[in-house]
Amino acid sequence: MKTTAAITAVGAYLPDDILTNQDLEKMVDTTNDWILERTGIQERHILKGPYGTSTLAARAIQSLLQQRNLSPLDIDLIIVATTTPDMMFPATANVVGDMIGAKNAWGFDLQAACSGFIYALSTGAQFIETGRYKKVVVVGADKMSSIIDYEDRNTCIIFGDGGGAVLLEPNYEGLGVLDFILHSDGAGREFLHMKAGGSMKPASLETVRNKEHYVYQEGKTVFKFAVTNMADVAVKIMEKNNLGPDDIAWLVPHQANKRIIDSTGQRMGIPPEKVIVNIQKYGNTTSGTIPICLFEWKDKFKKGDNLILASFGGGFTWGAVYVKWGC
Ligand code: COA
Repeated sequence: MKTTAAITAVGAYLPDDILTNQDLEKMVDTTNDWILERTGIQERHILKGPYGTSTLAARAIQSLLQQRNLSPLDIDLIIVATTTPDMMFPATANVVGDMIGAKNAWGFDLQAACSGFIYALSTGAQFIETGRYKKVVVVGADKMSSIIDYEDRNTCIIFGDGGGAVLLEPNYEGLGVLDFILHSDGAGREFLHMKAGGSMKPASLETVRNKEHYVYQEGKTVFKFAVTNMADVAVKIMEKNNLGPDDIAWLVPHQANKRIIDSTGQRMGIPPEKVIVNIQKYGNTTSGTIPICLFEWKDKFKKGDNLILASFGGGFTWGAVYVKWGC
């Protein structure tokens, strides 16, 4: 039988500090009711102190290694999906490898905004399917608080910090990552981006003064694209794999907005009790949302369960992954 990449362990890390809607009411002109009604978010976790995304990623990997009783030396490859790397270079994956002592692994970062994790999962699975590697760690982690303007009510209510990680190992029973559909359309970049700090517009006094190192988002436009494309691609992967709503045990959607999640579930014909939602606790952790959901729900998953992972994000980037759970 064909070699597939099974998810054999899942870890996550959420920092201790919490930013509630009530806290935000004191910082910007907003209300708890507005945030709850428009997004479904109640609170988010914030990584305080001199720590970067590498800390979130390293802790998520450590929790995963503990579960499988593995040493960091067992890891062949680390892929870190992030939009908030510790630095422009080197890659956060390199920093993480050093932090956890993964001396036998190489690694790289992958940037696809909120679709980062599903892009990285699809990429990591290839290294297992080809037989090249036996243990690939795929991380999704973001310290979104490092690029959020806490005076901008359009964005500061949405995002939080956190990370999750999965271990991929070869499987010969048809379990694991079975299919994916990924898309990108750079024309969407004008609606969701960071204006400065890259090679086109390096940091300067002016860019800092103009607040160009923060997330810029035209929420309404992004919402429209997200709600259509995330549902379309989720339905498409169901059709491609001859899956009806009853065949799917869980929908694991990117947690950007409760209304987008609900609408995706409805389009797929999946009842709410099979749709994983934890946005109320964490907000949108960008690359972190899907692996954090997998971590929180892992004890409910049964071997052979069909999961559909779906996301939409800046770029624009979007896609869906079909996973058969188990190891
Ligand atoms: N508190 C109170 N009012 C707010 C507010 C806040 N935090 N943020 C915006 N508003 C106001 C707006 O100024 C606007 O007022 P106006 O009608 O007087 O102009 C009104 O609320 C409606 O704003 P709008 O942007 O249309 O709200 P919305 O229903 O689209 O919700 C988002 C805003 C950001 C929550 C929503 O658009 C969204 O979730 N977008 C997609 C996010 C996303 O998926 N991002 C992808 C990254 S993965």
